[in-house]
Amino acid sequence: MSIVALLMAAGSGTRFGAPEPKQYLPLLGRPVIRHAAEALLSGGLVDAIQPVVAAGEEARVAALLAGLPARPPVPGGATRAGSVRAGLAALAADPPAVVLVHDAARPVIPPGTIAALLAALDGAPGAIPAQPVADTLKRGAAGRVQETVPRDGLFRAQTPQAFRFETLAAAHRGGDGGATDDAALLEAAGLPVALVPGAESNVKITWPEDLARVEAHLAARLVPRMGTGFDVHRLVAGRPLILCGVTVPHPLGLSGHSDADVGIHALCDAIYGALAEGDIGRWFPPSEAEWKDADSARFLRHAATRIAARGGVLANADVTLICERPKIAPHAEAMRTRLADLLGVGLGAVSVKATTTERLGFPGRGEGIAAQAAAVVLLPPDAAFTMA
Ligand code: CTP
Ligand code: MG
Repeated sequence: MSIVALLMAAGSGTRFGAPEPKQYLPLLGRPVIRHAAEALLSGGLVDAIQPVVAAGEEARVAALLAGLPARPPVPGGATRAGSVRAGLAALAADPPAVVLVHDAARPVIPPGTIAALLAALDGAPGAIPAQPVADTLKRGAAGRVQETVPRDGLFRAQTPQAFRFETLAAAHRGGDGGATDDAALLEAAGLPVALVPGAESNVKITWPEDLARVEAHLAARLVPRMGTGFDVHRLVAGRPLILCGVTVPHPLGLSGHSDADVGIHALCDAIYGALAEGDIGRWFPPSEAEWKDADSARFLRHAATRIAARGGVLANADVTLICERPKIAPHAEAMRTRLADLLGVGLGAVSVKATTTERLGFPGRGEGIAAQAAAVVLLPPDAAFTMA
């Protein structure tokens, strides 16, 4: 049975009120829409995702979903129902047996939800996850309560909602009557829609506080992983001195196969160490000519993509440069800024400091510069305890 999920992302997030639609905002370092797509795929039941986006955002969303089984995004409509119709039209040439419709603004789908929806489709053409209403319900107007509405039998509908494809396509052909979810169209046609348990964690990000709530929920599950790195390069004449991505004026520079940025190398190893993914030499072997004189910024960007690929986030990184000269303090802020930029994290997550060795040893004699780094990466439990 083929199952395709429409990922609804054509809204503009007016209630949220950010400069960007909420589905593109970062949640633990990755866009909300990427979380939603991965949540749809995580149980292994969904074959492909069909994103529906605002016109002009097709290429951006394709890039945000890179590496996932996503079809080329299609433009949506002025209403959510119009957007769903556009998504169904994109699937019509090769229709799946089952279509799921999911809000890109819902980054968390609890395990078991999709399996329960699919099982419920045996007995009904549509199925939705829903939470019983817990609060007492009031009808009100002009700041006054008018009445208490009995909450017995009332549910809050969530997504993903699951349908036999032909049933939903036919329901949408009949017009949407302003429906705010897809189940409403089946209800209007007198067709049964099954209820499966929803979850409080399946939040539709609507207001700014929702994003903070979801972030706290996801972060609480993450496991901290620590890594360290150490590197040394020799100081020689005739090379620029590049430390933590910043060119520092100095009569000598560091020699090495790449640009010999000892600070970035130590930091990369700290990150690879936290991920248990070997070291910089595994990813960028010095034997390969491609890395000769390479800008080490590339290595750090790669380490950042490995964190994201494991579903993680960098909590913090701390680099110590060990040298007598040059003085690092005047450049430390520029180095922090550059590293934070390369890693895609806030400045507060990155520290750069320096020490001398009291003129002892090779750094003390000015023969070379050493660097050590520590990084803490937060990983989801499944990624934290399995090797990449
Ligand atoms: N959506 C859509 N097409 C529309 C409107 C909404 O694909 N014309 C999508 C949104 O991107 C969102 C989901 O449907 O993922 C649920 O809609 P909602 O939470 O209302 O999102 P927005 O419409 O973006 O937000 P707002 O109503 O505050 O503007
Ligand atoms: Mg809306």
